[in-house]
Amino acid sequence: MKYELEEKFWLKYFNVYDALVNLIPYQNVLEDIISLLPSKNLKILETGCGTGNLIFYIADNVKYKRLVGVDYSLAALTLANKKIENRKNIIFKYADIRQHFVFKDEEFEVIVMNNVLYTLPVSKRQDLIHEVYRMLKPGGIFILSNINIHFKPMLIYKTHILKSIKKKGFIVTITQVFQLIYPTVMIFYYNFLIKKSNKGGLYDFIKQGEQADLLRNSKFKININDKLTYAGSAFLSKGTK
Ligand SMILES: C[S@@+](CC[C@H](N)C(=O)[O-])C[C@H]1O[C@@H](n2cnc3c(N)ncnc32)[C@H](O)[C@@H]1O
Repeated sequence: MKYELEEKFWLKYFNVYDALVNLIPYQNVLEDIISLLPSKNLKILETGCGTGNLIFYIADNVKYKRLVGVDYSLAALTLANKKIENRKNIIFKYADIRQHFVFKDEEFEVIVMNNVLYTLPVSKRQDLIHEVYRMLKPGGIFILSNINIHFKPMLIYKTHILKSIKKKGFIVTITQVFQLIYPTVMIFYYNFLIKKSNKGGLYDFIKQGEQADLLRNSKFKININDKLTYAGSAFLSKGTK
């Protein structure tokens, strides 16, 4: 039977999700995305912002005018709102990104989307990219990263451990890894469930060239395609309107 991931699924997911921020390969994805942002005061939209990890990473590292994150998980939006603290001009809004967005044409200079497309039914992906194109100003940029078909949790752990030992030493790394095992195993298990729900062809991790096809079909110029990030488990692409 075909079904779509809904609020109940994401509620469980977000009980453990923020543990990812401690994994160096996940931090590398956020850094890789940020390295592609223009260094001007920008109005940026994140589609499928979850608990706001990327939004806060941008807020703390880049000059921005306004950051807007949208998601349909109320659990995620509640957690994201709690993390705003004294940061200014950040707003989290409810939106189902399978639908038409409330934002005007050409409202944003940058749109980012991290690890979201692979959670959407294949049939809904192109419509979303058309909407992203519509909401971008001419010359605006779209950066997207997604778990790819080579997703290997063990390689993500191995990369984390090796890099962390170099940075923090063996004892600190091993102690932290023990604390991270339960939440991160759960996250990887939920990703496995997303993939498993693909049985009817509904979901799929991203294939090589898929992001480029989506960008091209929505008239984007492709600047970067399928750059490996997340210890090789994700593809990063960038397009310009
Ligand atoms: C794997 S999480 C990634 C969260 C965030 N982008 C990050 O990198 O931390 C996928 C996110 O997509 C959101 N999402 C999935 N389908 C959605 C939809 N139809 N409308 C809005 N958000 C959706 C989920 O609620 C979840 O927050």
